Amino acid sequence: MTAEHYFTADPAAAAREREVTFMIAGQVYRLTAASGVFSADRLDPGTAVLLRKAPLPGPRGGVYLDLGCGYGPISCVLADTSEQARVYALDVNNRALDLVRRNAEAAGVGDRVIATTAADVPPDVSFDEIWSNPPIHIGKTELHEILQTWLPRLAPDGCAWLVVAKHLGADSLQSWLEQQGWQVERHASQKSYRILKVERSLNN
Ligand SMILES: C[S@@+](CC[C@H](N)C(=O)[O-])C[C@H]1O[C@@H](n2cnc3c(N)ncnc32)[C@H](O)[C@@H]1O
Repeated sequence: MTAEHYFTADPAAAAREREVTFMIAGQVYRLTAASGVFSADRLDPGTAVLLRKAPLPGPRGGVYLDLGCGYGPISCVLADTSEQARVYALDVNNRALDLVRRNAEAAGVGDRVIATTAADVPPDVSFDEIWSNPPIHIGKTELHEILQTWLPRLAPDGCAWLVVAKHLGADSLQSWLEQQGWQVERHASQKSYRILKVERSLNN
């Protein structure tokens, strides 16, 4: 039997559900995850570093993209920390999209978290911020394609917050982004993760 990836559109494995509990900014979150979805047993340590090191929206709000949302930890935290935040939770995995819908509803932010596939994101929407623990394992070409698709959808003064493990190529991804004309700041490093802040450069 071939091992199934978490980025399969419709995981064949039965959806064994479990609760993932974590604390961000003094708030406890209890979300439902399931087999066939990325890091279903615990908040991924990279995602934890992202949510603890990058600045959460606070009252400023805005339109956000959670690129590769999984069961929705980033979407739920962004929407929960700002009543003004509207979050597009994007994934290719339909089981993940079902979970993010349910988790957002249970967290009381279901009206501001839009679970979606790429095809259903309205073409005229631009994002104040993109947050992502990107799917490195899909391969470099595919990862670059995703970033080339979504980063240009940032608002003119928007930015993206990415978490990438050093051993999974954080530094080479940073170099590639810079070659593509983006301005990239190494905002923080913790454990084996880097938090990259990506913005348009003056000529991008
Ligand atoms: C590293 S996981 C992060 C999941 C979640 N944000 C978290 O922190 O637990 C990356 C996610 O990207 C999704 N993904 C894979 N290919 C994608 C694509 N082309 N577009 C959007 N999401 C994709 C995977 O299904 C997976 O849920």
